[in-house]
Amino acid sequence: MKVIITKDYNEMSEKAFEIMAEVVKNKPDAVLGLATGSTPIGLYKNMIKDHNENGTSYKAVKTVNLDEYAGLDVTSDQSYVYFMRDNLFNHIDIDLANTNIENGKAADRKAECARYNALLETIQQDIQVLGIGSNGHIAFNEPGTPFGSVTHIVDLTESTIKDNSRLFKSIDEVPRQAFTMGLKNIMNAKKILILANGANKAKAVFGLVKGEVTENVPASILQLHPDCTLVCDEAAAELIR
Ligand code: PGA
Repeated sequence: MKVIITKDYNEMSEKAFEIMAEVVKNKPDAVLGLATGSTPIGLYKNMIKDHNENGTSYKAVKTVNLDEYAGLDVTSDQSYVYFMRDNLFNHIDIDLANTNIENGKAADRKAECARYNALLETIQQDIQVLGIGSNGHIAFNEPGTPFGSVTHIVDLTESTIKDNSRLFKSIDEVPRQAFTMGLKNIMNAKKILILANGANKAKAVFGLVKGEVTENVPASILQLHPDCTLVCDEAAAELIR
């Protein structure tokens, strides 16, 4: 794994953008695997700025997102489909028809997982952006998720519900289940870009980079990926220096 340590969040976001920009420049019809959460917002801001200033086009790009809360869709501003439009898609020239995410409101949740897996088999991510949970999760693959997992429904852990409750009016409003790409779907990406900032991620970053490769720390599987780059700030890198 390649590790890039930056002084702060802004520098982390700029480095991440450089890696993303290279992919899109070399392949204008690239498949971008995207993530939600606070971590990649700075990356998306840099993409928007570059689109506005330099005209980088996303017309031919396709996207696949990692996960979505079960029960929420674009009409909810807490949904991940809403987040992606608000933080990126509405500000670049991407065709929304080329953007993909699990349908949180699907009546048949199993069928929705099967649909998403079939889609992922037809479009391999040229790059997959990831954040990391304080418990070492990637997407909503919580500790204990099998490395061979594909898109599935998860019961969120108390730690994830608590971490994510800051974005809801109250903790009771955080959905208890979500759709998520599995670890196998993530590992299938040609390139992985994982981002982390802040001291609350330091333990997870240690597990990602230097810990045992174990299903107890889902992110540790990335040690086995042939092209994975971690960009993190000094606070998150505290335990790996
Ligand atoms: P965050 O979430 O970017 O909001 O910290 C990361 C994650 O839980 O994967």
